[in-house]
Amino acid sequence: MSRAAAPPFLRSVVIDWDSIPTKDRYPFDLPCIRSLDSLPLHPAVTYFVGENGAGKSTLLEAIAIALGLNPEGGTRGFRHASRHSHSELYRHLTLRRGRNPRDAFFLRAESFYNLATEIEELDSVEERERIRFMERVPKIRDSFGGRSLHEQSHGESFLALFLHRLGGDAVYLLDEPESALSPARQMAFLSRAHQLVAAGSQLIIATHSPIVLAYPDATIYEFGPEGIRSVAFEETEPYVLTKRFLNDRERMLERLLGED
Ligand SMILES: Nc1ncnc2c1ncn2[C@@H]1O[C@H](COP(=O)(O)OP(=O)(O)OP(=O)(O)O)[C@@H](O)[C@H]1O
Ligand SMILES: [Mg+2]
Repeated sequence: MSRAAAPPFLRSVVIDWDSIPTKDRYPFDLPCIRSLDSLPLHPAVTYFVGENGAGKSTLLEAIAIALGLNPEGGTRGFRHASRHSHSELYRHLTLRRGRNPRDAFFLRAESFYNLATEIEELDSVEERERIRFMERVPKIRDSFGGRSLHEQSHGESFLALFLHRLGGDAVYLLDEPESALSPARQMAFLSRAHQLVAAGSQLIIATHSPIVLAYPDATIYEFGPEGIRSVAFEETEPYVLTKRFLNDRERMLERLLGED
């Protein structure tokens, strides 16, 4: 179904403050969370930008858990866990929905390795089942391009995920998808995002990359000390700082590397 014909899967994220007993601790005391009541989501792409530690991953992760996804990343089927402890925020979130997606996937750059391992292990369990029942069960890795994600470079495996695993009619939550990608592949990511949107998918992306941030049919939310606000692409720090650096590298380097 094309996007124009369909309501978005997620319309907004609402925090039920009355249900939160202690508001003066993580994550409720983060400026961006403290000042948040309801965040409308764009039907195509919603971006989260802001300084390190602003709370982008905290909110993205809570949305993922509220959707029934594993906080470590992946789909509903993945059950791997690591030392990561997720916040309580998801318990107090309501996702206002337009309709239900066919598929959902949460990509966390920081735990992508664990996800690749989980795919290997699930495939090896299914291999044994296949032999037992003498029937062909498709491997999960087939939906990731057919090659083990561990046998591909970091960027190749990321791109394999975007190209082969993600599709239409779905919600995708992506935390810093640029982290493994060369500039050329970040641009390839934009093309892929456009295809996914055209096929009816909705994306929420936390990013520091001015390239990944450039998709035009989008809302950009900046997480700052005053809270969350909607900004234009040209107002964002990834755009402003990168542009200033590239346009005036010598002066910027003088300032950054100066003795005084
Ligand atoms: N389990 C936790 N307990 C207490 N504080 C935490 C916990 N997890 C994260 N924080 C803090 O909450 C803040 C927001 O973290 P978060 O990971 O959401 O930031 P972010 O905006 O995604 O940053 P980055 O751009 O570096 O990924 C940070 O200051 C972090 O140290
Ligand atoms: Mg983060």
